[in-house]
Amino acid sequence: MKWLCSISLFVALTLNSALADNTQLPSPDLPRDAYVNALLQKMTLSEKIGQLRLISVGPDNPKEAIREMIKKGQVGAIFNTVTRPDIRAMQDQVMQLSRLKIPLFFAYDIVHGQRTVFPISLGLAASWNLDAVATSARIAAFEGSEDGLNMTWAPMVDITRDPRWGRVSEGLGEDTFLASEMGRVMVSSFQGDNPAGRHSLMTSVKHFALYGAAEGGRDYNTVDMSPQRMFQDYLPPYKAALDAGSGGVMVALNSINGTPATANTWLLKDLLRKQWHFSGIAISDHGAVKELINHGVAGSPKEAVKIALDAGIDMSMGDIYFSRYLPEMIKSGEVSESELDDAVRHVLNVKYDMGLFRDPYSHLGPVGSDPKDTNAESRLHRAEAREVARQSLVLLKNRLQTLPLKKQGTIAVIGPLADSQRDIIGSWSAAGRIDQAVTLLAGIRNAVAGKATVVYARGSNITDHKDMVAFLNSYEVSVKQDPRTPQAMLDEAVKTAERADVIVAAVGESQGMAHEASSRSNITIPDGQRRLIDALKATGKPLVLVLMNGRPLALVHENQQADAILETWFSGTEGGNAIADVLFGDYNPSGKLPMSFPRSVGQIPIYYNHLPTGRPYNPQAPDKYTSHYFDEANGPLYPFGYGLSYTRFSVSDVKLSSPTMPRDGSINVSVTLTNTGDRDGDTVAQLYIHDVKASISRPVQMLRGFRQVFLKAGESKQVTFKLDAEALKFYNQQMQWVAEPGAFDVMVGLDSARVKTARFQLL
Ligand code: BGC
Repeated sequence: MKWLCSISLFVALTLNSALADNTQLPSPDLPRDAYVNALLQKMTLSEKIGQLRLISVGPDNPKEAIREMIKKGQVGAIFNTVTRPDIRAMQDQVMQLSRLKIPLFFAYDIVHGQRTVFPISLGLAASWNLDAVATSARIAAFEGSEDGLNMTWAPMVDITRDPRWGRVSEGLGEDTFLASEMGRVMVSSFQGDNPAGRHSLMTSVKHFALYGAAEGGRDYNTVDMSPQRMFQDYLPPYKAALDAGSGGVMVALNSINGTPATANTWLLKDLLRKQWHFSGIAISDHGAVKELINHGVAGSPKEAVKIALDAGIDMSMGDIYFSRYLPEMIKSGEVSESELDDAVRHVLNVKYDMGLFRDPYSHLGPVGSDPKDTNAESRLHRAEAREVARQSLVLLKNRLQTLPLKKQGTIAVIGPLADSQRDIIGSWSAAGRIDQAVTLLAGIRNAVAGKATVVYARGSNITDHKDMVAFLNSYEVSVKQDPRTPQAMLDEAVKTAERADVIVAAVGESQGMAHEASSRSNITIPDGQRRLIDALKATGKPLVLVLMNGRPLALVHENQQADAILETWFSGTEGGNAIADVLFGDYNPSGKLPMSFPRSVGQIPIYYNHLPTGRPYNPQAPDKYTSHYFDEANGPLYPFGYGLSYTRFSVSDVKLSSPTMPRDGSINVSVTLTNTGDRDGDTVAQLYIHDVKASISRPVQMLRGFRQVFLKAGESKQVTFKLDAEALKFYNQQMQWVAEPGAFDVMVGLDSARVKTARFQLL
């Protein structure tokens, strides 16, 4: 009690002395709430509104204009500025010119690496390895904070079941459990023990919420979803990332059941703040406040501001409505000052948590400490990038052990993606330098130097479709067209291939095809490249396809033609070396698909954890009036969790520690994995459950555990998962979170389609 009194006395004294001078910041020793309240009391209306403004330097906001805003306290944070000198210049302006010297924070889209680019998030998810994910985020945080940044617009944890959507590349796939685990690890690795740490970045989980469920896979489109699906499948990854302590959340651009997320009081206040107790900052996505007019829920800019603020948006990214209209709206009483204060408080809270009030330069250091060359090779973390990239690669096919290749003879490396530095680092590659990326061609040359001959031909453009090229190049030249005719390129490729013992063809998408605003209605490899594959196949040489793409593709044709297929996503700065490691067997592939690969676009949405129907289709006893396509199989080409190895693994029958689980207890689920092949390697044991009978239909399978296991050739290991009643719960018709007694199947396999099953009863 005594100590409590002395703390309050200390707080009161410090507060009083801080309040005495209206331009002096309170003492950073104050606890957060006391500090922020004291600061709020000193702020003018215009300074408060300024804190809600998040802008980037550019044609709309040239440096001089920003200087003036900073001087007047009219800007709260900056995004897209990524070097220490540039960032310091603005923080200096705050300290030298502004009245209250409230530090800016600096944010950037560090999604899969800052300077060292790691595989795109979908590739990271394919590693099924939380340590690899943690490494990538820790290094990204290190490099980002070394560049002076404080916040990243990551992780992106939108569940994605529709590969037409270009942003599936930025997410962690179709499964709730996998995405939740990875999102949680990303947040704790970016933020470290404390977001104020020298090498921590505060995260901003996005895009809250349900952005991945855009109708038809068309970006920014409507989302309409049942409460069960929302709470069971789509919301948990955001919750997991926020529970891991994320200081920020970025609000989605889509509407949810008719209400745009940016205007959604239920989402941002009832769910996020009241039920989930989030105390950080809610940031609108780019231009979202303005877009409320297009959504048809606001009739004027002022109304858009009011709706967004009422709903719970704190900071508005990239638009001017807040700063333009709030001054008069507060004066007229349309928006209350206490509502404004709430939003400002959230901004100041995160600045406090970033440690900026204690040291506005904590990620900058003194002037003399800036790197001489921002892009210096020595600032990269290549070894870690190569290691993580190797883990993200998924072997989809390997007929007659075409792979691994021998480092001998002549290898033809063909394809428009084989030597593309731009593409291999993927979209949202932050401050990653294209010219520091290792292409597949370079990686293969490095691997076989002095041992084998490498010949190369480009073979085709990514696409010859004029409109598509114009689209891909609309903001920057991201695909460079070869001036030769398609036939001339094809002929050269065939001639090159004919001289070789084996063909490695790098085909797929350009990075810009798997990006924001890059939805596709057709998810095959573009035509010109398909003609190239046909021509290469016709040479009769062994054909290895190295896929580079940011979404599941429909690959039925390629699966028939190729001898081996390696899915490499966009694998980052060290991608070429990592892929070569796998192609030549220096690393045994262990990646597993985080999304189902459909046979055709018509099967979409396709995901492994679907509900049963009343008329299930049985291919062994087909019946017309069952749930199926008459022109296509029901299942995917490659299922969720699938990925081959150069060795073979077997899974024993599933052993349960008990045939029953008490309601408050748990059971152990064990299998023995054996490496029955002749190479050492990693695989991923995957645990699924199915609630056999419940008060509502439950998915045919749901991932509830996974573990990467390394096994030497011939070695066996027992893998045990602990399963408790929490893992069996779901939202019932009344939206209660319950586990219902009865039978459950528990399945363990190395992919979702081939599993061993046992049954237990929940008491
Ligand atoms: C995207 C966000 C991104 C933001 C800032 C928006 O267009 O939807 O994911 O963080 O831009 O770059």
